[in-house]
Amino acid sequence: MGNLALTGAPPAIAAPLGVSWPVFGEEEQDLLQGVLQSGIWWRGGHADQDESQVGRFERDFAAFQDAKYGIAVANGTVALEAALRAVGVEAGDEVIVPAVTFVATATAVLQANAIPIFVDCDPRNYTIDPHAVATAITSKTRAVMPVDYGGMPCDMDALQAVAAKHDVAIVSDCAHSHGSQWQGVGTGAIADCGGFSFQMGKTLTTGEGGMILTNREEVAARASSYHNIGRYPGRPFYEHHIPSTNIRMTEWQGAIGNAQLARLAGQTATRERNVTYLSQELDGIDGFAPIFRDPRVTRWGFYFWHFKYHGARFGGIKRDTIIKACNAEGLRVHTGHTHPVYRNPIFQEMNFGRTGHPFTCSLYGKEVDYRQVYCPESERIYAEEALCMPHATFLGPQSDMDRILDVLHKLERNQDALRAWECENQTDAAS
Ligand SMILES: Cc1ncc(COP(=O)(O)O)c(C=O)c1O
Repeated sequence: MGNLALTGAPPAIAAPLGVSWPVFGEEEQDLLQGVLQSGIWWRGGHADQDESQVGRFERDFAAFQDAKYGIAVANGTVALEAALRAVGVEAGDEVIVPAVTFVATATAVLQANAIPIFVDCDPRNYTIDPHAVATAITSKTRAVMPVDYGGMPCDMDALQAVAAKHDVAIVSDCAHSHGSQWQGVGTGAIADCGGFSFQMGKTLTTGEGGMILTNREEVAARASSYHNIGRYPGRPFYEHHIPSTNIRMTEWQGAIGNAQLARLAGQTATRERNVTYLSQELDGIDGFAPIFRDPRVTRWGFYFWHFKYHGARFGGIKRDTIIKACNAEGLRVHTGHTHPVYRNPIFQEMNFGRTGHPFTCSLYGKEVDYRQVYCPESERIYAEEALCMPHATFLGPQSDMDRILDVLHKLERNQDALRAWECENQTDAAS
């Protein structure tokens, strides 16, 4: 049987670590009841937005992230699309995005009729590489969409310098970075604007939902109009000014958002405390390393906690064997996303419909072939290095971090058994 759960021994961790997600209580129930009883289930029914759940959520989440304006929407993907449109991205424009992200970063660009241009990541912490951004800028570039991947803020100083030099906007994808700060300022409030997701797995969730944050009044006005079928505040209800859509957040989502927001600061502090301890202790295990945290990251509200695996320092054992062994021991570990975004069929097969828009748009006039795109660091980290654990694992006591370390130490002691298992299960253990 051996010592490893992979080979039939009892798992090192008997009960799941952390907490079950989402966390909720009477606050959520009371606020939802309030919406139900009010008979006003959409934000438009409240003349005074301070009385609407969505209005309150916008104001308070924007303040929490240090932004002046918040526009709550139906989900994170449309938040990004609206944010891009609000800074003036249109057909024929290019938007630079990282290859390491969820597909929505790139599809939001397509939804805004623009062309996503993929660039590589900084291998230290998997955020967009500012040098790669600078190199990818062309006369068509209208915006950069850096992603605070896993919640880790991008190097906003370097990105703002590049953006200012080339006069392009920065629309941050903050879908993972609720609570994170760069030099004391909340993500989403640093550059032109940011888009958040409140999908159920996120550290602030409304089930589905999103928000655009900005400090720029005109960007807020455009995003607000776009999300509300082209209306302008103070103008007649049936007067519509721009081609747009209805992506308003419901009062149900707003109510949940308000209750969840009240928990966010405390949860962020707990996660950060636990991960700081774990990162320090991880230093003692060769082969594993915490992800690089820039000292300018003054608060880290992470969604995935990424850490790195170096098989060459761990008996040559493959990363995917480590994942299987951890999961067998009761420790939830995965790779986060699994491949660079450009590897998705949408890009490899150029699935852009009958007309091929926006690539065939005469305003663009260039050719793009995503099959030629290759970002070596992004490829490498997904193939062999990246490991991550979900944020809810870090909402328990510090002793849970010791359980994580127990598992990794157990694997370290049993490298021979892991190698033997790997040999017997060659076809399963992908490289
Ligand atoms: C990096 C990133 N951007 C955008 C989104 C889109 O958010 P939503 O699922 O709320 O549309 C996600 C969702 O997980 C994401 O991970």
